[in-house]
Parts: sequence; structure tokens; C-alpha cells
Amino acid sequence: WIPLAQSTANHSIHAWSKAIEQLIYHPEQSSSTILRADILSDEEGVDSSIGHLRCKRRLVRNILPRRPNLDKNLEQVCEVYMNRQGSEGIATLTPILPSDNADEVPYYHPKVRSLAFHFCKDNDESAITRFYIVPSRFYIVPFEEEQAFNAITSPQSRLSRTALLLLDLQSRLAFGVENGYKKRVEHDLIVDRKDYQELYMQLRDRHASFLMETWCESTDPGKHVFEDLGIVTFIILLWRTIFPQTNGRPPNFVDVGCGNGLLVYLLAKEGFTGFGVDVQARKSWDQYRNCCSEVDLRVESIDPPAMCSGTTSSNLFPEGSFLIGNHADELTSWLPLMAHCTPNCSGLVNIPCCRFDLDGTISSRSKYPIDEKEIEAIVGKQNLTKTMQEIQRGPFAEADTTSRNIAYLRYISHLHLQAGWQLEKEALRIPSTKNWAFVGRKRI
Ligand SMILES: C[S@@+](CC[C@H](N)C(=O)[O-])C[C@H]1O[C@@H](n2cnc3c(N)ncnc32)[C@H](O)[C@@H]1O
Repeated sequence: WIPLAQSTANHSIHAWSKAIEQLIYHPEQSSSTILRADILSDEEGVDSSIGHLRCKRRLVRNILPRRPNLDKNLEQVCEVYMNRQGSEGIATLTPILPSDNADEVPYYHPKVRSLAFHFCKDNDESAITRFYIVPSRFYIVPFEEEQAFNAITSPQSRLSRTALLLLDLQSRLAFGVENGYKKRVEHDLIVDRKDYQELYMQLRDRHASFLMETWCESTDPGKHVFEDLGIVTFIILLWRTIFPQTNGRPPNFVDVGCGNGLLVYLLAKEGFTGFGVDVQARKSWDQYRNCCSEVDLRVESIDPPAMCSGTTSSNLFPEGSFLIGNHADELTSWLPLMAHCTPNCSGLVNIPCCRFDLDGTISSRSKYPIDEKEIEAIVGKQNLTKTMQEIQRGPFAEADTTSRNIAYLRYISHLHLQAGWQLEKEALRIPSTKNWAFVGRKRI
């Protein structure tokens, strides 16, 4: 074992072992090229030791790369050792390779046989240990002596930089544990993370390069293509939960304020029936129609008050439609009510962006108080706590603009409930800060 990096640790061994657990469960935190790890086995009290340290836990994980066509997955044995007093620990991470060859190690993993985090007390500074200032080290077992030499002598080497990065991440995670850090946003409450990742990669492989190459709008293709691929992934998985009898297919969908039509194109290419509506056609529309005859994009100015007042049925959406509002501006606040007025509406997804109120003005309020009594009258006493918690869920208020956004999301929550939809929200895994999706899949 060769020491590669060292730092003081301003945390307890308990925080260290929790941080190690997080590193094992979530290797994607240390590298953007890693998708996730699946835990294949997890044993406690294994009969193995390193010196005076006994193996407390052995996990085998399968690390999956974000781009499986470029790199392969890697199985790895992760072992956590502790001394009897619980003051020292070592966590080893050892790839399982077909042969003892550095070329077998995928790109996203350091080219080493094994690596380890060591938490121990420094004898020279024993006074410090009393205040939980404990050195921890990052070790490697190199394939070759020469490699070890280079790694140690050159702090600029990739290996040394990785060591520092991992040690830094481990320290930050342990610091978070010590200070009671709670995840700010819970993801994956409506659709499963694994299902999302798998479908997202399939859709990306099927569509991304064509869409990037043929982009004809003046906007940034990188932003739109990957964001809409994420939204479509979420919608398709959501539909599987709502329409199990029809293999995840709604009777019809309407993308309200569909803009460039990309979402409609992707859903049509994936075999779903529906259309998009916007007040003006976009350059991309003809291109999408030429590529896929099922792409149905319509120029129409939606008049929500007329549609919802019941005085006209001319522009009601088809019976059973599922409504989608993605950053639909003036239509966002009306969407729950439009869904309510659509005959047998099968649900809605509403992703707010600009803060348009029902009267078409942009809201600048930074607070939106909600009366619990009114919510109780809507959802009933038994659902009050759950609904109030769901109203509270949202982005963190850090800046003034965020607090205005939070107030707006509370306003949309209120309208959603008033229109008779059970409130569910998901923080979408998309590269946008306006990523909160309001889901209506059940009536109150
Ligand atoms: C911010 S853009 C979003 C477009 C698209 N959904 C997206 O995410 O790329 C909002 C769209 O809503 C459309 N829109 C706003 N009010 C509308 C109305 N009353 N009828 C039809 N479309 C409307 C606008 O023309 C615009 O294209």
C-alpha cells in the first residue's frame, strides 16, 4: 500500500464510515462519467482482517458508466475494516478484473489494483484527536513500481488529482454527516431512478445526435435536446403508472404552448398519439413533420377563460386527453383548470417557468400564504398533512429570485388543488433550474 494523499479530518469515525457508505452507494458523486452503482451483495461480519482491523462489512457493487458504448461496467469489492475500539478504520475498494492488467480498468476508475481510505489517529498530535481532528489517508496498490513512483512524485498526475478529489469528497460528505446535513431535494418520488436512467439513455441514443445535427432554431440545441429528452423520459414512465391497461399509452396528449415542437416530435417518434398547439409555427415544425408523418403541430391561440367558462366548446381538447405544459408561460396557471374542463381528462404535467398569474401578469410576490382550513376543505382532514407537506416541497430559498419562484410554485400548487387534482411534484433530472413538475394523475 502506498500513501498518496492525506488530510486532517474534522469529524468522527462515525461520520467517516457514513461518508464511505455514501461513496460506495453513489460513485456518480465523484465522476460525471459514472451513471450509478448497483449493489450486488452486502454482508456484515466477514471473516477477514487487515492487521488488528476486522472486516465489518463487504459489499460488491457494479459500477455503470454513463456512456456504455464507450466504456464498460466494473464490479468492485468494497470492504470496511474497523479496530475493536472503533477509533480506526480502513475502507478498501478493489476492482474485480478478468485479468491482472491495467488495461482492464475502465477509464472512469484510477488505474490501480485497489484503493483505500484510512481513518486513524495521529500519534504525534494526540491532543488534536480529542477534538476529532484525525488524519485520514488515501492509498493505492499500483500495478507497477514505476507507476507508483510517478504517482507520488508528481502531484499533477491524474492519479494524485483523483486521490485528492476523492479525499476531498469523502471529507465533505463526513462533514455533512457531522453537521446533520439533509438532502435539500428528494428526487425520484414518482418514477424510479433506474428506470429513468435506462430509458433516458435509450432515448438519447435513438434521437440526440440527429436532433443536434439538424437543429434549425436560433436557440441552443444542447439545452433543448437534452432537457426535452429528460422530460419525455419522465412523461413516458409516468404514463406507464397511469395507463397500465394500454401499455402506458394515454388516449391522446396535448402539448399546450408547444413552442418548437420537439416534445411532440419525440413522443410521436416513440409511438404516442397526440398533438401540440402554439400561437405561432416554428422553423422546426416542417422538419419534424417531414421526418415523421405522425407529428401533429397546430397553430391556434388558446383562450383559457373562454375554454374554462363553459360558454364555448369549440376549442376544448379531445376527450381523455393528457395535458402537458412545459414552460408554457401564460398557460401555466390555467393548465390545471383547462385539464379539469377537458372531458374525462386523463391527467396533466405542468412544468412552470416564467411566473405568469391567471390574469396574464408576471407575479412579483415573494410570499404566498396558504390557508390550511381551505386546503382541508378541499382534500379532507385525512389528507391534510400529506398535502401541506407536498405544497412545502420545492427549491431552496437562497436568493430573492428563488423566493419569488417558491411563492409562484405555491400559487400553482394552490390552483392545482382548487381545480381538483391531487398534488404531486417531482424535481426532474434535467439541466434546468426550472425543473419542478406538477403532476395530476388522480382527482381529489
Ligand atoms: C416559453 S415558450 C415554451 C415552449 C415549449 N413548451 C418549450 O418548452 O420549449 C411558451 C410558449 O407558449 C406559447 N403560448 C403562450 N400563450 C399561448 C396561447 N394562448 N395559445 C397558444 N400558445 C401560447 C408561446 O407562443 C410559446 O411558444
